[in-house]
Amino acid sequence: MSEIPGRKFALLPMLGHTKGKRSPVTCALKCDNACAGDVCNTSSNSYFRDIASTTLSRRAALGFGAAGALAVVLGSALNSSETAVADAGTGLSPAATTGYGAGASKLQFTAIPSIGADVDAVTVPAGFTWQPVIRWGDPIFNDAPAFDLANQTAAAQERQFGYNNDYSDILEIPGSKGRRAVLFANHEYTNENIMFPATMPAAEMRAIGAAAHGLSVVELERTNKSTPWSYVKGARLNRRYLNSTRYELTGPVAGSALVKTTADPAGRWINGTLGNCSGGTTPWGTILSGEENFNGYFVAPGTSASDKRYGLTNKPTARQWELDDRRFNANNPGYENETNRFGWIVEVDPFDPASTPKKHSSLGRFKHEGANVIVAKSGNVVAYMGDDERFDYLYKFVSKAKYVEGDRKHNMTLLSEGDLYVAKFSGDAPAAEIDGTGTVPADGSFDGKGEWLPLVVGGKSMVAGMTVEEVLVYTRLAADKVGPTKMDRCEDVQPSLHSGKVYVACTNNSDRGKPGKEGATEVNPRNENRDGHIVEITETGDQTSRKFTWNLLMVCGDPAQGDVTYFSGFPAGQVSPISCPDNLAFDSVGNLWISTDGAPSGIGRADGLFKVTVDGAERGRVEQFLAMPRDAETCGPIVHDDEGHVFVSVQHPGEEGTFAAPRSYFPDYVPAGATPKPGQVRAPRPSVIQVFRIAA
Ligand code: FEO
Ligand code: CA
Ligand code: CA
Repeated sequence: MSEIPGRKFALLPMLGHTKGKRSPVTCALKCDNACAGDVCNTSSNSYFRDIASTTLSRRAALGFGAAGALAVVLGSALNSSETAVADAGTGLSPAATTGYGAGASKLQFTAIPSIGADVDAVTVPAGFTWQPVIRWGDPIFNDAPAFDLANQTAAAQERQFGYNNDYSDILEIPGSKGRRAVLFANHEYTNENIMFPATMPAAEMRAIGAAAHGLSVVELERTNKSTPWSYVKGARLNRRYLNSTRYELTGPVAGSALVKTTADPAGRWINGTLGNCSGGTTPWGTILSGEENFNGYFVAPGTSASDKRYGLTNKPTARQWELDDRRFNANNPGYENETNRFGWIVEVDPFDPASTPKKHSSLGRFKHEGANVIVAKSGNVVAYMGDDERFDYLYKFVSKAKYVEGDRKHNMTLLSEGDLYVAKFSGDAPAAEIDGTGTVPADGSFDGKGEWLPLVVGGKSMVAGMTVEEVLVYTRLAADKVGPTKMDRCEDVQPSLHSGKVYVACTNNSDRGKPGKEGATEVNPRNENRDGHIVEITETGDQTSRKFTWNLLMVCGDPAQGDVTYFSGFPAGQVSPISCPDNLAFDSVGNLWISTDGAPSGIGRADGLFKVTVDGAERGRVEQFLAMPRDAETCGPIVHDDEGHVFVSVQHPGEEGTFAAPRSYFPDYVPAGATPKPGQVRAPRPSVIQVFRIAA
């Protein structure tokens, strides 16, 4: 196959398709212009308005002490170090009954002011500073060359930290007394326009770009708990997961005809992972990562119901990997099913560099943002998952087998078999009170009831006319048939290990209420939802329940700009403005932390990380902790408040610039004309950064 004449790189001609939220570059490269195309969900399923545990502490289970030291996990010591902590009387973890809420946090800070979208700096609270943990191009292995922006190669990139890190987590290495940890980061996509000089041959760009995708695991070290982390080049656990890395497909779809290809006639072994967005860390110390906008990497016939539902089209892809590898064109004989091998939840063991990563078919196939696991009172584990597309759905998985404290080998099988559900919400306000502006109904809250509609239960399909394999491969089509609620782009879905409540970040939906599209509902109460909202779910009974109640924690925006907002009754004049919630995390005392993606084109402010009090008198209080450099999105928050450390992934800094004319110099900030220090460059580099107190 040859390159398309006159088409050096497909990116720039595609720009300009953006609709409101994101920069054109993000739309083209990250989401394959998902918002520019038609809405994938054209199903006419239920119109919301017409229908009238014991929570195992994950921190504890991982080995965090009650005071909340870094996760102490695993390796060969796993079996003894998993300490499941629960209070059978209250159903809450011990920390929840002692010092819950904002005032109890050991990370006290004064909120930063809202920062303009064009500021090319990381802004942190007074008394704090920041520095990178690891940057794009940092050499991970002993044989890896130093990053050389002017002379990049695919071979070097395969041995260096990848691009556009999104989900991240840091788990302490057992026995290291807090001085050694392992960092996981995934690499969602690449920004070729700012990574490579325009003179670089396209084939080289493709090869390096491909090597900058995937996942990374790298060891960290520090002198003591109050000093910042550094990554360790050549450490034993360091690993890059590349397009050639082999993943084992688990669950009912393994071996199915729906996933067989010429290269994998068994339908069990998949090379690579794509579009990794958010993720989650399991109670047994593995990492989950969501394959999200995988469709953007494939040429496909684009004519079948499933191709249309998943946004697969018969046009050259932005990166044109199809020129180098036949499997990226599903029109090629033998590769018709290749697209079915992506769109899964991936599980990796960061403590075993020789382990085979998995893709879990039991958790369904869609544009997975991520997955977050909690152990239910029954012992089953429950994973909550969002499908990040306008008008798509919220899901949960309930494992068949039960969590066994201390048996990591067993626990690592829990996501391979179980039941899959999709959420249906109903509100209690009269339809006339949901007017599409976000104005709170007369009863004082957006709230109501909900149910988890079964898709697969007990190994059987609950969807008429579809087999279990079909339900799990074409999960969107299956869900359409059972009438779930169309949501405003569910991003992270995170259960609180303090309360068991589940938080859903609905980032935005530019199309809600537009002609021919579903209008506002109580759970998605704003038309042309620019700023997003957070849903709070309370399961009825334990986490495996099929029924729940819900309310909105907040309806985002900038009150000072006149936006209609709602912060659970907290005075709107006293909150940090917030737009486009994306990733969620909790600190050790149960405060919710929210990172944003898209605020610049919403409220015109830099994306950031925000602490939200969810309980007590200050419920709904939003305090901004940091702001991103120019064009960057905040991802992968990790809050080790007990140590005064906060980490975030800084994704796509300066993405609206070019290689020749950067818009950001994060994180090295080499001054113009200065000679860069070793390892530094005068160009934007996606990085994981750490924020910590300035030493007294
Ligand atoms: Fe990759 Fe849903 O954000
Ligand atoms: Ca209500
Ligand atoms: Ca995301």
